[in-house]
Amino acid sequence: MKRYEQERNFLKSNFFEFKRLKTDKMKGIPKPPIVKKYDPLSTIIDLPKVNGDVVKKQNIYECIKERRSTRFYSDEFISLEELSYLLWATQGISCTNKAGLTLRTVPCSGATHSFETYLFITRVEGIQAGIYRYLPVEHQILFMFELDEIDQKIDAITLEQPFVPNFVKKAAVVFAWSTTPYRSEWKYDISAHKKILIDIGHVCQNLYLASESIGAGTCAIGIYDQKLIDEILRLDGDEEFILYLGAVGKKKK
Ligand SMILES: Cc1cc2nc3c(=O)[nH]c(=O)nc-3n(C[C@H](O)[C@H](O)[C@H](O)COP(=O)(O)O)c2cc1C
Repeated sequence: MKRYEQERNFLKSNFFEFKRLKTDKMKGIPKPPIVKKYDPLSTIIDLPKVNGDVVKKQNIYECIKERRSTRFYSDEFISLEELSYLLWATQGISCTNKAGLTLRTVPCSGATHSFETYLFITRVEGIQAGIYRYLPVEHQILFMFELDEIDQKIDAITLEQPFVPNFVKKAAVVFAWSTTPYRSEWKYDISAHKKILIDIGHVCQNLYLASESIGAGTCAIGIYDQKLIDEILRLDGDEEFILYLGAVGKKKK
């Protein structure tokens, strides 16, 4: 259908077009940083080492079978050990390869990992409510700032939710993944963008399954106000912008 031509073409492989191009990597332009820089004088919180102790449902078959998008949450807090596990499951680094690229708990085209994880925390034990960023290399979270009326802001960001209105603000923590597209464009040029979208799907699926394994539930959020969330998180909206969100909370018993 002509009407969707551009959008449908975006979904297709453009490998042959890509092969004719000289990427920035081929031109010898230096590789962009693999993670976003931060001020080491920021307030930084160590996350407990992940060893699987928080996992209640060990059986992967049961986690896959019982996973559902969860939009009703209890008032229970998530422990710091559980948050640590969820961050590890979604973006945790397992090792670094010979090229200096990180290999993580999720697959990613060419190990480019163009994502940063921001957290809207409202109910995590021992953690002040506010906005945080995950530091995957150090496995720490960086406190960015407090946000007045955080639940109202989350509500405004997540617009008119079609299934359960206003549910996102009741989550214990909302994951917001940004992309810095150049991390992938440097290597994949015009092929980067489709790959980035596929990559983020793996991240959110791990959040679903890891949540299921600790008695929590996740709901992916694709309906959000792009400009508002980028502004709140102080992202420029071009070199880095939010791509996808995931709300997490303990399930209602
Ligand atoms: C890319 C994507 C975006 C989604 N966005 C929303 C959303 O904004 N709000 C919502 O309530 N659910 C959202 N969902 C959850 C879907 O509605 C849900 O996965 C679907 O209804 C199937 O239900 P299940 O996940 O329980 O199998 C999204 C899911 C995906 C994969």
